[in-house]
Amino acid sequence: MTLLEVENLTVEFPTRRGTLTAIEDVCLEVAPGEILGMVGESGAGKSMTGAAIIGLIEPPGRIARGEIRLNGKRIDNLDRESMRRMRGRQIGAIFQDPLTSLNPVLTVGEQLIETIQTHLKMTRHEARERARSTGCAGSAFLRLKSAWIPIRTNIQGACASVS
Ligand SMILES: Nc1ncnc2c1ncn2[C@@H]1O[C@H](COP(=O)(O)OP(=O)(O)OP(=O)(O)O)[C@@H](O)[C@H]1O
Ligand SMILES: [Mg+2]
Repeated sequence: MTLLEVENLTVEFPTRRGTLTAIEDVCLEVAPGEILGMVGESGAGKSMTGAAIIGLIEPPGRIARGEIRLNGKRIDNLDRESMRRMRGRQIGAIFQDPLTSLNPVLTVGEQLIETIQTHLKMTRHEARERARSTGCAGSAFLRLKSAWIPIRTNIQGACASVS
């Protein structure tokens, strides 16, 4: 069974000088438990492929062609709200620069709780317990991101996977 299938994914940006094709005919498959690495020079389209898969292409950029299927269901044609609900629950991203992806004025715990409550019907207390179960325990939970830079990637990973 394939978990994620991408077929002929093409992303275009209209510009004054014509259409810029950011990625063209990208095909990939990921099975459950499989880790797929993408290698390519800067500008090759690694980030753009990821952004398209999780529905984060900024307009006027758009998926011009292709299909993306998660568990056999198409997700490239979902409306914004459906995609938002799926993101963070069934599919997520850990971005290249985790330092800028966490809010420096909220504690790690607050950001985990917020992510959980966005996706799961849980009380604040339940969400707190769930957040603590990620292993982000003790004082780490109460720290601000900027106070604990060395493990920020782990924290961001927890945010992406808690729900
Ligand atoms: N907002 C945008 N508007 C137009 N073109 C864009 C935009 N963002 C990215 N591109 C183009 O899309 C192509 C793919 O870029 P992308 O950022 O995916 O590369 P990358 O492989 O992730 O590079 P890096 O290794 O530097 O992170 C590049 O040609 C880039 O110029
Ligand atoms: Mg990139």
